Amino acid sequence: MSSLTTLNRQIKLASRPAGLPAVSDFQMDYSALPSPVASEVLVRSVYLSLDPWMRGRMDNGVPGREAVAIGDVMPGGVVGFVVESNDSAFRAGDAVEGMLGWQEYAVVNGRDLRKLDTGLAPISTALGVLGMPGLAAYFGLLAICDPRPHETVLVSGAAGAVGMLAGQIAKIKGCRVVGVVGSDARTSWLVDEAGFDAAFNHTTTTDLRETLGAHCPAGIDIYFDNVGGAITDAVFGLINDRARISIQSFLGMPDAGPRWLSQLIVRQAKVEGFLVSAWADRFPEAREQLSMWLKAGLLGYREDVAQGIESAPQAFIGMLQGKNEGKQLVQLSALQAAAA
Ligand SMILES: NC(=O)c1ccc[n+]([C@@H]2O[C@H](COP(=O)([O-])OP(=O)(O)OC[C@H]3O[C@@H](n4cnc5c(N)ncnc54)[C@H](OP(=O)(O)O)[C@@H]3O)[C@@H](O)[C@H]2O)c1
Repeated sequence: MSSLTTLNRQIKLASRPAGLPAVSDFQMDYSALPSPVASEVLVRSVYLSLDPWMRGRMDNGVPGREAVAIGDVMPGGVVGFVVESNDSAFRAGDAVEGMLGWQEYAVVNGRDLRKLDTGLAPISTALGVLGMPGLAAYFGLLAICDPRPHETVLVSGAAGAVGMLAGQIAKIKGCRVVGVVGSDARTSWLVDEAGFDAAFNHTTTTDLRETLGAHCPAGIDIYFDNVGGAITDAVFGLINDRARISIQSFLGMPDAGPRWLSQLIVRQAKVEGFLVSAWADRFPEAREQLSMWLKAGLLGYREDVAQGIESAPQAFIGMLQGKNEGKQLVQLSALQAAAA
C-alpha cells in the first residue's frame, strides 16, 4: 500500500447533455483512496471501456434505463489488478474485470469481479473481443441470425468494436461478409486484416442501395445492424427470402425512411431487437468459444487507447461521433506498475 497514491481520481456526471455531450458535462473529482472491508477488494484500474450505452445513462426519465445521478461516478467496465483483498477468492496481483466506473481505484465486493486468465490474451481483451462487444457480436449474430455457409451477411458500423467481431464470426461460419464503414482506411482494414470479403465507405457513396446491390449481388440473407438510419433503409430493399435482421442500435436516429413492412411479408423475413444482457446465463459458453477462436488466430481486433483518466470525456465524445478506430479504451495506469 505504501507505493500507492492516496488520492483516487474519478470522473462524475456534472450535467445532463442534450444530444452530443460536452466535456463540461463531466467533472474530475479527487477522493481518498477507498479501503476494502469484509468480502471487498481494492482494485487499481488499468483500462476503462468506453461504450455507446453510457450516453443513454446520462439521460433521466427514460423507462427501463437507470440514470446516473448528477455527481455520481460515470459507470463503465474496467480491467485492473487487485491491490488488497478481503475475499479469499482473490489475491493481490490478480487481474480482474468488473463494472468499476470511471475512476483510478475502486472497492467492490468480490462477487462482482471476474478473474482473468493473463496467459490467454492481453487483459484489455476482457473489455473487447472477450468482453461485452464480443458477447454482443456472438449472440447478436449466432443466436438471432443463425448464419449458414455461403449466405451473405451485411454488417453496418463494421469497423466498430462489435461490428468487426460479428463479421469475423460470420466468416468462421462460412458466410460471405460485407462491411459498411465511414472511411476508406476502415474499408482497407476490414478486407486486408479482418478478412471481410468486401467493404465500402458509406460517406462517399451517392446511391446506397445501388452500392449495396453491387457488393451483395446474391442479395442479403443476414443484416447485423449497428447504426440504423439511411443504411438500414437501403438494406431492407435488398433482403432475400427468410432474411434475418439483428438490430443492435439505431444511434438515436428517427424513423425517417420508407416503411418496409410489405418487404418483410413478401420475404418472410425476421427482424429482432437484441439486448446482450438477456444472454447473461450463456456468457461463460460464449467466452470459451471466443477464447478458442482468438487463440486459433481466427479473430483479429483493433483497440483505440486514450491515455489518462483526464482524456476519458473527450475520448467518449469522439467515440459517439464514430471517430474511434476499433474498441475505445482509456488507459488509467501502467500495466507493470499496477501489477506490482
Ligand atoms: N443492444 C445491445 O445489447 C448492444 C450491445 C453492444 C453494442 N450495442 C450497440 O451496437 C453499436 C456498436 O457498438 P460498438 O461498441 O461497436 O461501437 P463503436 O465501436 O463506437 O462502433 C460504432 C460504429 O458505428 C458508426 N457510427 C458511430 N457514430 C455514428 C453516427 N453518429 N452515425 C453513423 N454511424 C456512426 C461508426 O462506424 P463508421 O463511421 O465507420 O460507419 C462506428 O465505428 C452501438 O450503437 C451500441 O450501442 C448494442
